[in-house]
Amino acid sequence: MSEDEELFDKLKKEIILLWLNNKTLSEFVKLPENLIYNKVPGNKIESVKILDDWDADGNSIKLIHKLIKKVSPYVNWRQTYEEKDIGKTFLDKFAYFELFGPNGHFLTKDMSLYVIFFDKETFYTWHNHEAEELYFVISGSAKFESKGNKSEILNKLKTRFHKNFQPHSLTTLKEKCLCFVVWRDKLDSEVKIVKDI
Ligand SMILES: [Fe+2]
Repeated sequence: MSEDEELFDKLKKEIILLWLNNKTLSEFVKLPENLIYNKVPGNKIESVKILDDWDADGNSIKLIHKLIKKVSPYVNWRQTYEEKDIGKTFLDKFAYFELFGPNGHFLTKDMSLYVIFFDKETFYTWHNHEAEELYFVISGSAKFESKGNKSEILNKLKTRFHKNFQPHSLTTLKEKCLCFVVWRDKLDSEVKIVKDI
């Protein structure tokens, strides 16, 4: 096993353990038994420096935070949004990658698991998608808002569910936020910015 595959494998094993010990995650979606390692080329994005400079602390699931940082140089980081739609300020402050999924570092057609981070004082604008979604906070905190629900500030181990097409947004305050984003259906959903809430 190459060094990068070994790191991805450690992260995968830690997530399997997390799923075993967390009812909200395991009831949302089962982790597929055969996640097939997929050699995807790394893609570095300027904003990933925010994660590289961020050490796990008391507000972190430390081991997972550390493992994500370790795989970071090999990750196919993405932003998807274009500057004209979301603004440069936001693109300077976030990035994500698909760890498990149809195009992930481990292949599966049964679910998607993305890793996403935001710098402090960042507003991730209102958007929606057909896929049902569960956010899970690994490190730091953020304010989660979704149409029809009370907003709440969530710390590590907390989750937030979004129904299909339910508009939602996320705002970080004085802390950064590192999360898993899990989809269990409609894995090819398009994420659309929502202007009228
Ligand atoms: Fe979402």
